[in-house]
Amino acid sequence: MSGEVICECEDGECPATRRLVLRQPVMADVPAITSHLSDYAVVSMLSRVPWPYDAEDAEDFVRDLAARSDNRIFAVTLRDTGELIGVVGLHGISEGRAELGYWLARKFWGLGYGTEAVQRMIDFGFGPMELSRIDVSCRVVNDASRHIIRKCGFFFVGPGMTNTVAAGRVASEHYMLDECSWRSIRMWGR
Ligand SMILES: CC(C)(COP(=O)(O)OP(=O)(O)OC[C@H]1O[C@@H](n2cnc3c(N)ncnc32)[C@H](O)[C@@H]1OP(=O)(O)O)[C@@H](O)C(=O)NCCC(=O)NCCS
Repeated sequence: MSGEVICECEDGECPATRRLVLRQPVMADVPAITSHLSDYAVVSMLSRVPWPYDAEDAEDFVRDLAARSDNRIFAVTLRDTGELIGVVGLHGISEGRAELGYWLARKFWGLGYGTEAVQRMIDFGFGPMELSRIDVSCRVVNDASRHIIRKCGFFFVGPGMTNTVAAGRVASEHYMLDECSWRSIRMWGR
């Protein structure tokens, strides 16, 4: 993508961080999403993303987001260049609760972007969205994701099994964060 940061959020509110802008995914993002999700190392950690992944899957993803009101999903883009590097969001929004999900393209791992995007999304969920509880799950083999979840203050709820589209039935861990706890830790150690 060009260096221009495009914002098409209905309410004009694009959550931003020091290095990232989170904005609504658009059809122009399909090539980048398709390319990033043509990587089993990313897809195998996600529950609902199909494998193999092609442009039609990415088009369906963008179209579905626009049609549904029970999610707030954002493209994670670099503030400096506008490049899409991943997706973060809250889905299954109901009665003040939602499920957190996220992924980054492999070439952007290990640079702190995951933590930055997830912390901003949590702030957005408990802030403007006024959620009372956020749930998140990760595979037991997903050390990087578990690290983010724990750094963000989530409480361990318990182990379980998750049916994933790409990797089948896998062992998983489930965590939650409530609004009161978020308020007490929201300085994120800064
Ligand atoms: C999970 C994911 C988003 C992490 O993104 P990231 O930008 O690499 O994460 P960060 O750089 O913010 O690192 C988070 C922490 O995990 C640690 N970490 C990173 N990779 C790790 C690994 N393989 N093992 C253990 N710790 C790891 C980092 O050191 C960092 O901790 P620190 O801040 O104390 O140093 C990314 O790996 C990803 O997209 N994976 C595939 C999809 C996925 O797993 N999504 C989540 C589904 S639950």
